[in-house]
Amino acid sequence: MKLIGPFKQIVTLADLPLRGKISDDQIDIILNGGILIDNGLINNVGDFEILKNDNPDAETVIVEGDQIALPGFVDSHTHICFGGNRANDFAMRNAGKTYLEIAESGGGIWSSVQHTRNASEEELLKTLLERIQFLISLGITTIEIKSGYGLDVENELKMLRIIKKAQSQTPAKLVPTCLSAHLKPRDFEGGNQEYLEYILTEILPKVKDENLAQRVDIFIEKSAFQPEESKEFLLKTKDLGFDITVHADQFTPGSSRIAVEVGAKSADHLEATIDEDIEFLAKSDTVATALPGASLGLGEKFTPARKLLDAGAIVAIASDWNPGSAPMGNLITQASILATFEKLTTAEVLAGMTFRAAYALSLENIGKLEPGKKADFVTFKTDNFQNVLYNQGSLNAENVYIDGNLIH
Ligand code: NIG
Ligand code: FE
Repeated sequence: MKLIGPFKQIVTLADLPLRGKISDDQIDIILNGGILIDNGLINNVGDFEILKNDNPDAETVIVEGDQIALPGFVDSHTHICFGGNRANDFAMRNAGKTYLEIAESGGGIWSSVQHTRNASEEELLKTLLERIQFLISLGITTIEIKSGYGLDVENELKMLRIIKKAQSQTPAKLVPTCLSAHLKPRDFEGGNQEYLEYILTEILPKVKDENLAQRVDIFIEKSAFQPEESKEFLLKTKDLGFDITVHADQFTPGSSRIAVEVGAKSADHLEATIDEDIEFLAKSDTVATALPGASLGLGEKFTPARKLLDAGAIVAIASDWNPGSAPMGNLITQASILATFEKLTTAEVLAGMTFRAAYALSLENIGKLEPGKKADFVTFKTDNFQNVLYNQGSLNAENVYIDGNLIH
């Protein structure tokens, strides 16, 4: 047993609800608290002195100065395995070029596919681990990572194998997702339906055999895959035993409805979701994931997180870190900014980056500091947890613990 403390404040998030709005007075704060850890799991959280007296044999790690502790953050949507960068896309967009013009001049997702295909495995692994390290330094302890820049058997498997290899070299908990249905690659002979069939018959069985991912994602959008063909594809992936997540309603509404209909774990983006579909999402168990990093990267509107929460949805917040639409990668900054524009309470933002995001990844033992959950938590040198969002990402995490081990 190990006892860590005393913390000026421990914000456990233990009593907060899975869905809907939360007011800040629902946040339970333990003052002068300690976290008692047994075998990587939280044994107890409570008053430090009482825990110390009750557990005289526990190894005690004393925390110096004023610090607060929060559950480790969960980034439930990233594309951080990629080659090259798209700084030129960013500059061209800001200079007024359209998506089509950028794609035609060699940018867009296809350009990242070419860079990723051409990159060596060593290079991809190295940059992936660097990005993971950056996320850990923010206090993020669980990271979802998508494929989707390979877009053929060889390169999709290459990406997923690299993500698996990264897992053996980082304490962060990685959750891989197969996004072969990101876009039909330019060199594929056949239409969208043939490509989706190719994923089902050539890619997914191998992903299963090698246990490379348990989740499948698709980008449903005018420029990518159409609603009907996507729905058929998703139902088949479900039959193969995969969990489903969807890039939905980013520019055009309609696909979050499909996500709900097929029982997706999450529908992500939702910048263009119409009111009727907000209600539909809110009545489902499909997590509505806001991706403010994409809104900031593209200069587009934010996901209507306030409306979704008021309607009763399960709202998560993720970074979408990718080379195209969301190059920043700082989830804390992005979530803080989303809060100011969407008028989200601190409780709603913290829930969205912790247990609600974990729910989207089917991880029930992560995201709250309570007995039985993983001892994944982040500390900040401050006497008030509100400072984390108030500083909009510029208050650095002090320490990061995963499975009870100090890793940052
Ligand atoms: O989530 N919308 C589609 N996919 C990514 C962007 C990927 C890219 O531009 O490389 C997203 O925003
Ligand atoms: Fe994305």
